[in-house]
Amino acid sequence: MNDILELLKEAGSQIVPFKWEDERFYLLDQRLLPHREEWLECKGWQDAAQGITDMVVRGAPAIGITAAFGVVLAVRELVQNKAEGIHDSLQGIAKQILKARPTAVNLKWAVRRMMSSLEGVPAGQAYETAVAEALKIWEEDARANIEMGRLGGQLLPDGKGVLTHCNAGALATGGYGTALGVIRGGIRLGKRIWVHADETRPWLQGARLTAWELIKDGIEVTLNVDGAAGVLLRSSTIGAVVVGADRVAANGDVANKIGTYTLAVLCKENGVPFYVAAPCSTLDHECPSGKDIPIEERDGAEVTRCGDTEVAARGVKVFNPVFDVTPAELVTAIITERGVLRPPYDKAIASVAP
Ligand code: MRU
Repeated sequence: MNDILELLKEAGSQIVPFKWEDERFYLLDQRLLPHREEWLECKGWQDAAQGITDMVVRGAPAIGITAAFGVVLAVRELVQNKAEGIHDSLQGIAKQILKARPTAVNLKWAVRRMMSSLEGVPAGQAYETAVAEALKIWEEDARANIEMGRLGGQLLPDGKGVLTHCNAGALATGGYGTALGVIRGGIRLGKRIWVHADETRPWLQGARLTAWELIKDGIEVTLNVDGAAGVLLRSSTIGAVVVGADRVAANGDVANKIGTYTLAVLCKENGVPFYVAAPCSTLDHECPSGKDIPIEERDGAEVTRCGDTEVAARGVKVFNPVFDVTPAELVTAIITERGVLRPPYDKAIASVAP
């Protein structure tokens, strides 16, 4: 793990959403940020899966890495209990982990990768193999983010604001960020860039997490309510919108935090480039289009309450999809670690298939 932290530090990022220390896996409880920094230990795979469901950890790549460590914890438990045929039991557990949240494809991607790394491995070596693979997934994500930052940073204009939505930063990834990584990349190139962060109702990932990260890293950030994005995009302050993704379909349709589609339409209307930063682990080559992406809906109480305070009229019905799909034709470019993809996306995405 120290190598990964060193790599991130060199790239200018000091925040990670999880740690693997003395063979124990911890999640930084993102529900409590920015006012409390508390680490929760995942004692078993169930804690990792529950942590994903309950938003202790969130953001597509971070969900994938947590799921990978969930598999590590499952392997350790099975080996310690000397369960017969650990591979069969593991298949059952992998299916449970996959249910933690439906939209971010990194979850499926990481669990599959863990399972194939364990194929044919004798029980006596399974735990070491699983730990090595989970750390490799984490390190690759950090490296991918840094490379996306290098490539994407070149696209950003100098002397303009960049609007972002939700949190696609260090906390959402292995530690550098996809959208925020691109912004870091632009700043590293010497560009004067400041960030406008949508607050991102109802979980306030923008207000709590993006603002916290950027302030910690000394990057200028201004917070706005989601509804102010139109005014901002109509003014000439914003040079680009950069967001992350939970899943990119084979045709280039992008699932991301609810409100992203609205931003893409506003970008088209106002002639502002709309960039999506996503590692190749977020590209779903098996998913033909946005229509095939499962969109998570969460409890209505997330909308009727603000923190612990009830704000909505009692008894009101709630519509709470937590992601939306932006059609490929509204996306200016998709920044991956293997290059900046441009339309036609079906060909561009197929060209980076594993
Ligand atoms: O509900 P969340 O907080 O998991 O949603 C996160 C997002 O929508 C991010 O933009 C996406 O996962 C990309 S993170 C690099």
